[in-house]
Amino acid sequence: MQKIMAANWKMFKTRAEARATAEQLRTLVGAPPAGRSVLVFAPYTAIADVAQALEGAAHMATGGQNVYPADEGAFTGEISPGMLRDAGAQWALVGHSERRQILGETLDFIARKTAFALEKGLNVLLCVGESLTEREEGKLAQVLTEQLQSALAVLPSAADSLNRLAVAYEPVWAIGTGKVAGPPEILEAHALVRSVLENSLGDAGRRMPILYGGSVKPDNATAILKLDNVDGVLVGGASLQAESFARIVTA
Ligand code: PGA
Repeated sequence: MQKIMAANWKMFKTRAEARATAEQLRTLVGAPPAGRSVLVFAPYTAIADVAQALEGAAHMATGGQNVYPADEGAFTGEISPGMLRDAGAQWALVGHSERRQILGETLDFIARKTAFALEKGLNVLLCVGESLTEREEGKLAQVLTEQLQSALAVLPSAADSLNRLAVAYEPVWAIGTGKVAGPPEILEAHALVRSVLENSLGDAGRRMPILYGGSVKPDNATAILKLDNVDGVLVGGASLQAESFARIVTA
C-alpha cells in the first residue's frame, strides 16, 4: 500500500514562509520514494501558495486543516470544501485532537464534516485518538471505536468516497510532547482501528490507509513506518522545517 507522509503545519507560517518551505521540500525530496506520497496541511492563508509550489510534482498534494459541512452560508470564520478546492487543496484534515479539545468539536460534527467533504470530492484524513486519562482508564478500544463508528455510520454511499478516506491514529498524550507511543502501543491501536474499519466497511476497510501521528521525528520514523498497519505518518513539529520533514519522507 502507498504510504502517505503528511505534514501538519498547524497555525504556523506566513504565506512567504509556507511557500519557501514547500519549495525547499520539493527540491530536497525530488520525487518521493516509490510507494510514498507527500501531503502538506497548510494554514488556510497559505494553501494556494503551497499548492502552487507543489504544482506538477508527482505524488505531492496540499490540504486544509479543517472544513465546514456546507457549501456556503452564514458561518463566520469557517471554510467550505469548494473554497479549499478552489485554493488548490485536494485534502481536508478532520477531527484533529486540537479541534476536538480546544474548539470543542463533537463526534456528530466531525462525522458531518467527513461525510460532506467526501461528498464534495475532497480526500479526508480523519484523526482519532485517546487522551492519557482515557488510556489509563482502559478505554482505548471504546474511544477509538466511538470516534470511528460515528463517522463511518454516515459516510456517503458513492463507492469512490471510501477510496478517498484515510484515518490517522494520534494518541493525544503523544502530540507535541516528545512522548512517542512505543511499537506495542502503536501496533495495538492500529490493529484496533483496522478491525473497526474492516467490520464496518469490509474490503474497503482492509485497504484504507491508517497513519500514525504524535512526536514522529526523523530518528523514529523508519521504525514506526515498518510496523503492521502503519500506512504513513502525520507529522506536526518535525514537519515545519523542510529538511527534517524530507528526512522523514525518505526514512
Ligand atoms: P507532533 O504533532 O508531530 O508535533 O506531535 C502531530 C499532530 O498533531 O498531527
